[in-house]
Amino acid sequence: MTQDATSQQAVTRWHSFKSQDAINQAAVTRILQAAEEAITKYGSFYIVLAGGSTPKAVYQLLSKEKADWINWHVFHNDDRCLPVDHEERNCKMAREAWLNHVMIPADQIHDIPAEMGNVDGAKAYANCLIGVRTFDLVILGLGEDGHTASLFPGQVVDNSADAVPVFDSPKPPADRVTMSQNRLNQTHAVMFLVTGAGKQAAVDHWRNGVAIPATLITGQNGVDVYCFGVELN
Ligand code: 6PG
Repeated sequence: MTQDATSQQAVTRWHSFKSQDAINQAAVTRILQAAEEAITKYGSFYIVLAGGSTPKAVYQLLSKEKADWINWHVFHNDDRCLPVDHEERNCKMAREAWLNHVMIPADQIHDIPAEMGNVDGAKAYANCLIGVRTFDLVILGLGEDGHTASLFPGQVVDNSADAVPVFDSPKPPADRVTMSQNRLNQTHAVMFLVTGAGKQAAVDHWRNGVAIPATLITGQNGVDVYCFGVELN
């Protein structure tokens, strides 16, 4: 089921799925379709990955797919300031679930060097993003408090930079690196993956026009929110 909610900035399309498998498969289909379109148009596909736990099953499914991997360029919307091989690192999750199993060229996978610390890691990633064209697809999660990437309620982020340090994140660890709202918005498409009753309050806020960080992100072609386990009241 798809519902459109037109807002001033962008169209937000809500998609409700009846099972975890259904939402995972729909996300894989959407990603592969976006890749095909971008590679046809630009010869390359620029995707930004979400962290957290929700996308892991989607990444595992992608590891079994056949795609024009040589033309994929992979970025992350945020990572935690932990050692590079720490279990809680978003880049480690994506590599183990997917990227280690497909032939995307190593120099086209851009981990955030969050092990350098939030300030130096943000500076390094901002340098990595210099000259990077508009993304084709940004995948995002939604926190129970309405955060996305590492853009948290009540925290002002320096939008003059493409990647910024986060201090005092309410979701551990406190120190993180995140792409800024402005850089995340330099994308053709945005797909949120939202599963579980824990996200209901954030979805209700979003749909009732309450300003949560997730609503800051608007792709050129609007935003698609893939939901399972939450009611679209
Ligand atoms: C992180 C993510 C964060 C995540 C949401 C949802 O580093 O934790 O970037 O924004 O996407 O908190 O997390 P879950 O998918 O684990 O619910």
